[in-house]
Amino acid sequence: MFAGDCASTHDQVLSIQVTTHQQADIVRNISSQYETVLWSPTSPEYIGAHTEVHLFVPANKLGTVTDLLQTHHLTHQVLLDNTAELIEMQTRNESSDPRSSASYYERYHSLEDIYYWINKTAQDYPDMVKVTLIGSSYEKRPLYVLKLSGQQERAEKRAIWIDCGIHAREWISPAFCLWFVQYSLNFYNLNNDITEMLNSMDIYVLPVMNPDGYKYTWTTNRMWRKNRSLSKDSNCVGTDLNRNFDANWCTKGASNRPCDEIYCGKFPESEPEAEAVANFLRSHKDSVKLYLSIHSYGQMLLFPYSCSNEEVPNHAELFELVQEAAMKVKRYYRNNYKYGASAKTIYLAPGGSDDWAYNLGIHYSFTFELEDRGRYGFLLPPSLISKACNEALLALKSIALRVIQKTQSQP
Ligand code: ARG
Ligand code: ZN
Repeated sequence: MFAGDCASTHDQVLSIQVTTHQQADIVRNISSQYETVLWSPTSPEYIGAHTEVHLFVPANKLGTVTDLLQTHHLTHQVLLDNTAELIEMQTRNESSDPRSSASYYERYHSLEDIYYWINKTAQDYPDMVKVTLIGSSYEKRPLYVLKLSGQQERAEKRAIWIDCGIHAREWISPAFCLWFVQYSLNFYNLNNDITEMLNSMDIYVLPVMNPDGYKYTWTTNRMWRKNRSLSKDSNCVGTDLNRNFDANWCTKGASNRPCDEIYCGKFPESEPEAEAVANFLRSHKDSVKLYLSIHSYGQMLLFPYSCSNEEVPNHAELFELVQEAAMKVKRYYRNNYKYGASAKTIYLAPGGSDDWAYNLGIHYSFTFELEDRGRYGFLLPPSLISKACNEALLALKSIALRVIQKTQSQP
């Protein structure tokens, strides 16, 4: 390649430093054209002055895009130049490769694999795992929830809810749910924290809340975020399930345009995936004390509200919980997580499941954004799954044990 010729033959992910309002306009424009996919922030409307933007650019548009950036004095770095290779690495079936030492939980799995795993796990641990069907997706795929219980019978047991994979491209999220279930079952009666958690609380785990989207990221478009529902009056597909809940639904931070990544849907709970989760939580709202939703990326421990800049009544208490969890992650894994109320820590995002659960009465409600900070973004290599999951597990245990103490006197 000649000096000055920086066109790559690969799709790239660029990190673009926006400093002025005028530059923000330009990048907003670029990010909604040229077949680019915005990785961070989630939607062009979140791009302002002083924003670091992560943008996926297909190879045939790199010249055009980088020219535009240069013209407007926008500096950028290449975060990833090997997206195709990374995607190939993540979808390769290593189980047939005897040289691979990665365990089942250190790989990503197709939706079919995960359904098989759910079944197998229930069979292998009949006295600790029950599987419930809570509904089905737009394309009629089942939504299975695993209920994990310790062997101590208690009359009125409290419960934890954990969902993974609301957003299709955040593959580390379902990987975490599988990791968590496996860890809990393996270490029950071996690890004190897990033993106490499972003896005090039932744990409901929904490994893939958006199976249609997840499937689509394996077959067609690795960058897909939303579910796969069709709209009558648009050719664009999909609703953002984390904008579809009834919490200041479709106000600032969501979009009513079906083509947008943060499309809120036709009405609150218009999407069968969101409705199924909402129905389940409504019917278990007295027992569920802790709600947890797992996303990526950004390394953050967040709590309500996302849908408004107001503080929740127990803001200080929730802040302490995430602060303590983040401190532990820092101490044990030397990794920094941001923490705080969601709207103030990232951006306004109405219609989220965590806010909705909070307003339902589940006053310990959190969203985790797992690794990383953008080095690999949604394409986190399999070799980094174990660290991402271990540190999130530590944060989860820290919060759950505190919530168990705090809700002790209640039935
Ligand atoms: N990044 C995620 C999103 O855009 C989470 C943002 C925080 N929102 C929330 N409801 N917790 O949906
Ligand atoms: Zn997400």
